[in-house]
Amino acid sequence: MTRSIPTVRLNDGMNVPTIGLGTYQLKGNAGVQAITNAINIGYRLLDSAYNYENEGTIGEAVRRSHIPREELMITSKLPGRYHDYDSAVPAIQESLYRANLDYYDFYLIHWPNPIQDKYIGAWQALIDAKKWGLIRSIGVCNFLPEHISRLKDETGVQPSMNQIELHPFFNQEEQRKWHQNNYIQTQSWSPLGRANAVLLNEGIQKVAYKHNKTIAQIIIRWHYQLNVISIPKSASPRRQLENISIFDFTLDENDMHIIHALTRPDGRNKNQDPAVYEEF
Ligand SMILES: NC(=O)c1ccc[n+]([C@@H]2O[C@H](COP(=O)([O-])OP(=O)(O)OC[C@H]3O[C@@H](n4cnc5c(N)ncnc54)[C@H](OP(=O)(O)O)[C@@H]3O)[C@@H](O)[C@H]2O)c1
Repeated sequence: MTRSIPTVRLNDGMNVPTIGLGTYQLKGNAGVQAITNAINIGYRLLDSAYNYENEGTIGEAVRRSHIPREELMITSKLPGRYHDYDSAVPAIQESLYRANLDYYDFYLIHWPNPIQDKYIGAWQALIDAKKWGLIRSIGVCNFLPEHISRLKDETGVQPSMNQIELHPFFNQEEQRKWHQNNYIQTQSWSPLGRANAVLLNEGIQKVAYKHNKTIAQIIIRWHYQLNVISIPKSASPRRQLENISIFDFTLDENDMHIIHALTRPDGRNKNQDPAVYEEF
């Protein structure tokens, strides 16, 4: 059975599915099988990264699926160690060689690394790679408003999206509003909190019971109603289908409030605050 996933329009005109497949830790033959299954049941957005070391797995799944390349949207991300313009350009090319693809639909700077402070060079490389046809849409991950403002001020180019940690324990209300005011699409990573205690939460369980859905489906529907794109990762065909079967019900204000109330200032999964945390 193939499910159809609604899309949203970005500031650069791209239409993107509102749910994609996270692929962190999906690798090798098992990874190819999991990703191919996801494509065959309706996933059209696949989220990878240079540092996941699975761009080859993604490319292989794309070739083994029966869906034409142009109907799929594939994301990869530039690691912190390649932020210098002169290392970012070959890293993007290497990323494509690994996947054996001609272009990525999205290429994102993986972390701002503000102490290293080289993300402007990285952004310039993404701008140029887009001009050369290697990338269709450019964005960032984990950027705080001050980092995004610098991109705009120093290059004149605004990202199409910012992929940030977002789940019921850390709902990013302020940053979401800032994105909305600046026409930047929010995308949620670890939308299910990487299967932490949120999947056992009693409040969400009650909402799930009311709608005859699972807790994971309630959380993914909550992301959708917040107008954010979520990219839940699942290796399991059953859970992959569950995670995109959320378009036949609506959470009411009270349901949304129950989930919102779970947010905490220290709700990040691994305390990765982009103001100080750096990843290479
Ligand atoms: N930009 C960044 O800095 C950044 C950081 C982290 C992650 N990401 C991206 O975001 C994606 C998603 O985040 P994530 O992988 O950290 O966490 P996640 O998607 O929130 O959670 C994945 C976990 O939830 C389980 N799961 C999935 N669907 C489920 C369901 N319906 N019921 C119960 N359990 C379910 C999965 O197990 P099974 O596989 O066994 O189903 C897996 O253990 C990543 O894969 C990656 O692509 C980006």
